[in-house]
Amino acid sequence: MKMQAVTDISIFDCNRIAENTLWNLGDQKELLLHRIHAYPAKFPPFLVQKLIEYFEGDGKEIRLVADAFCGCGTSALESARLGKNFWGCDINPVATLIAKTKSRAYRPTYLRTLYKTIQTSASSSIVRAPESYHQNQRLNYWFDADTIDRLFRLLRSIEKFVPEGKYRNFFLTGFSNILKPCSRWLTKSIKPQIDPKKVPAIPLDAFDKQIKMMIKAVEQVQSSVDFQSRVEIVNRNLLNLRVQHSFADLVITSPPYVTSYEYADLHQLSAIWLGYTDDYRSLRKGTIGSEHHSDETESIYEQANRVAKDTYDKLCKVDSSKAKSVLRYFYDLDLAVQRIRQIVKIGGSVAFVIGNTSYKGIPVDNAKSLAQSLLDHNFKKVQVSKRKISYKILTPYRNQLGQFTSHSRGRKVYSHEYILTGEK
Ligand SMILES: C[S@@+](CC[C@H](N)C(=O)[O-])C[C@H]1O[C@@H](n2cnc3c(N)ncnc32)[C@H](O)[C@@H]1O
Repeated sequence: MKMQAVTDISIFDCNRIAENTLWNLGDQKELLLHRIHAYPAKFPPFLVQKLIEYFEGDGKEIRLVADAFCGCGTSALESARLGKNFWGCDINPVATLIAKTKSRAYRPTYLRTLYKTIQTSASSSIVRAPESYHQNQRLNYWFDADTIDRLFRLLRSIEKFVPEGKYRNFFLTGFSNILKPCSRWLTKSIKPQIDPKKVPAIPLDAFDKQIKMMIKAVEQVQSSVDFQSRVEIVNRNLLNLRVQHSFADLVITSPPYVTSYEYADLHQLSAIWLGYTDDYRSLRKGTIGSEHHSDETESIYEQANRVAKDTYDKLCKVDSSKAKSVLRYFYDLDLAVQRIRQIVKIGGSVAFVIGNTSYKGIPVDNAKSLAQSLLDHNFKKVQVSKRKISYKILTPYRNQLGQFTSHSRGRKVYSHEYILTGEK
């Protein structure tokens, strides 16, 4: 699989790289377990498998795979499926809940017994949610009063009958994924907005469908994944992590987009119901690009890499506030590269999957800035490959509501992304 080597960043141009079709499609059917909970900007699972095989084909011994931005645990499940140990980190507690749920083994009969108990308890209860729930502005905004009561009864039944640990996480993940269908949230929108015409799903019905699907997903992996490997998933800010020693043979990761705070906004229903925060906006804190204040721009600019400075200078001419946020993003991404370098063993490898964007006609070349960071922090054999983003083949635009559409009047969504690799 040919990649283009990056040594001279001044002539590196992502647009001139030919698409490498080898990274476009997988040869195995995606596991149902990958679909138990919606999550934005997930990896296509086959990519993790192909990357592991790629490095092994290159003679690397891969025992432990790490993902510094593990999201909902696509790389965790795929690594476990291939018998690799795994370490993953994500700042979003909803992400790490899903990732933990997806990377453990369960007994389906026990899941069914627990589910029956939850169902019986929640459907026979007439308890109302406390006044604090009904007075919560966010809950009232998204849910009608009756749904708040029904969801409350369901959640309390899970907490009462399922002991803490992986089984409880399993049901909480299911609960989390029915919140949007049970609310007024515009279906499939990536922006938090109300659909005034929507008839929200009934919690117990939605939960029934959800849990049955999850148990089917568990049964599907029973024969193909032995879950003997060690999987550790931490809910942390990567940038604040103290890395005592390097431990990963391979890091496979995909950093958040420039506006990564959106991940927090998108999970506000789960974050509030699961008690992670009262104010979902606090989940934005610490995400890549949010660590510094705009009055620190000057000192950040001084330390930023060449591509970041260049992008900042160009963006400043059209929108200085956007320019500052892009600069902060590139700066944090550079810190993330340094942290990831600490995680990787000497001789170990890294693979980043990242897309580019533009703002008011100015290219925001995330791949180039990342390549620059890899070179600046002494990664060897830095290479890049271009792949087509498969789900955007049929729906390459976004409409004004942020939904994917095949209608060409919508905003064009980027159809390609880049895989950057390197070695420590
Ligand atoms: C593109 S998503 C990763 C998706 C993942 N590959 C998957 O398949 O689900 C990027 C992730 O970075 C996380 N993130 C943003 N800032 C972070 C930080 N400072 N430390 C750790 N994770 C962070 C976000 O919560 C988000 O889940």
